[in-house]
Amino acid sequence: MSVLSLRDVTIEYSSGGYVVRPINALDLDVADGELVLLLGASGCGKTTLLCALAALLTPARGSIRLDDTEVTELRGAPLAEYRGRTIGVVYQSFNLIPSLTALDNVAVASWNAGASGRAGRARAREVLDTLGLSDRLRHRPADLSGGEQQRVAIARALCLDPRLLLADEPTAHLDELQVEGVLRLLRDSARPGRMVIVATHDDRLLPLADRVVELTPRRRPVHTEPVRVALAAGSLLFAQGDSGDVAYVVEEGEIELVRERAGGGEELVQRVGPGRYFGELAPLFGLRRTATARAAVNSAVTSFTPHDLRSLMASQGRGG
Ligand SMILES: Nc1ncnc2c1ncn2[C@@H]1O[C@H](COP(=O)(O)OP(=O)(O)OP(=O)(O)O)[C@@H](O)[C@H]1O
Ligand SMILES: [Mg+2]
Repeated sequence: MSVLSLRDVTIEYSSGGYVVRPINALDLDVADGELVLLLGASGCGKTTLLCALAALLTPARGSIRLDDTEVTELRGAPLAEYRGRTIGVVYQSFNLIPSLTALDNVAVASWNAGASGRAGRARAREVLDTLGLSDRLRHRPADLSGGEQQRVAIARALCLDPRLLLADEPTAHLDELQVEGVLRLLRDSARPGRMVIVATHDDRLLPLADRVVELTPRRRPVHTEPVRVALAAGSLLFAQGDSGDVAYVVEEGEIELVRERAGGGEELVQRVGPGRYFGELAPLFGLRRTATARAAVNSAVTSFTPHDLRSLMASQGRGG
């Protein structure tokens, strides 16, 4: 049974006056004890999704349910409790405090939650012991290897025994040797009572996962053959934020590309007439559509894979 469930989660930013929608209508179910990898190219929204799970940002739409809690509706004290205790976060760059020992870096989590100095240290020692770091308690971050620093950071995140452990690129700064201990630790952290969600583009982590969620739209051609599409005036070809596998050449009529403005309204980016092409960026780079395409008048377009489009342009000398 899924204990963490995301439904129709859509997250928007406003960037340079436009709407950016890295996460669009995402559904995801995670069962207790599972380790889930969020995989995808830079900019596809991995950190964004972790921030939403950590209740650091609120989706424009959709539901994030953990056990009986609707995370998107948390406010005030329950929100602070959720951020402080229900989740633990591991950052790419460790974020340890340089002047504190490993022990105190971990104890900070308990101290922030109101524990006494002594109780906080006792708990930190316990966690570091179980993570195999008992001989590093008095070391400061600068005297630890990258792998050890990351393990201390994981210890800090686990200190209050969170229900959900979130890790953002936890192996980004680690070499092969250092990665091993961190991977084992993440794997062992997923067990009954705790889920682990790791954002990464490191495929060394793949064997670790109970489930892999690809956030980047897949780069595969849907039509191997060109397909002609007739569009009545005003009808939609694709919408900003959609994933896209093909580019288009306009045969007749005119296609307008428009972009949603943050705060409402839209802006015309380009009108594309007969013989011209558009929509090649999303399939080429595995991005989502950055504009909406619709017919300005009755029109017809033909879809091509980026590869076929390139051959066509080379043979005909056409440009977009
Ligand atoms: N605060 C913000 N304001 C506007 N746009 C943002 C903001 N944060 C992220 N974005 C945009 O949202 C998209 C997703 O960003 P995000 O950082 O979640 O990607 P990512 O998958 O974590 O990338 P990386 O692998 O490089 O860490 C990007 O296009 C980014 O530019
Ligand atoms: Mg990121």
